[in-house]
Amino acid sequence: MKIVFLGPPGAGKGTQAEHIIAKLSIPQISTGEILRRAIREKTPTGLEAQSYIEKGALVPDDVVVRIVRERLAEADCAGGYLLDGFPRTVPQAEALDSFETIDAVINLEVPRELLIHRLSGRRVCAACGYTTHIDRGEDKCVKCGGELTQRKDDAPESVENRLVVYEQQTKPLIEYYARKGLLTNVDGAKPLQEVTKAILAALGCNE
Ligand code: AP5
Repeated sequence: MKIVFLGPPGAGKGTQAEHIIAKLSIPQISTGEILRRAIREKTPTGLEAQSYIEKGALVPDDVVVRIVRERLAEADCAGGYLLDGFPRTVPQAEALDSFETIDAVINLEVPRELLIHRLSGRRVCAACGYTTHIDRGEDKCVKCGGELTQRKDDAPESVENRLVVYEQQTKPLIEYYARKGLLTNVDGAKPLQEVTKAILAALGCNE
């Protein structure tokens, strides 16, 4: 199954993706993760993307479309995949439609105040990428013992900008996919397991 996760920053796309890919045995393609790895490795793409990401702007469409197109051509995507963070603009969605046929789009809905709370308290393991929240009171990564850090784009000014960018450039995709009959809205404000259950039901998968 070829799935797209839509939703504002902090809606829980990455968190839910982890559970859904395990259940469906498909790879998660997170453009945010691919770009952050490119920044860490100082590749030409990473160097180009860094300033956009840190201020909460979108990386240019042509760069992201190329990354996704190359990644989806890899063998592990032949049986389906979950796109997390792509597409994020109408031109990206149109580009995707030109080389792939998507089966389902899940839109995670979360109120703004909760998004800000989730993003400002999010912590990520510097070693393995495990994501948690300060509300859980973990002072080290529970998976590998690594140090928990804050993403640069979770600083208050970047968060504010990312939410504006979402409203202006990504939100129109809700209508785009609704018109194609592919969209299911899921309440992403509920507890983690309830959200996972609702997504699996929307995808027609029994637990
Ligand atoms: P990206 O990494 O995609 O960030 P994002 O879309 O802003 O989404 P986030 O990762 O911030 O949030 P999420 O929805 O995954 O939430 P999470 O599960 O972590 O992109 C980063 C940047 O890269 C962009 O700003 C842009 O510059 C660039 N980029 C990426 N893709 C691009 C594209 N296609 N085009 C152009 N540029 C692109 O959860 C958040 C927190 O909430 C966590 O602490 C988690 O533990 C907690 N949480 C989650 N669910 C629940 C729950 N149900 N209950 C309680 N807590 C929860």
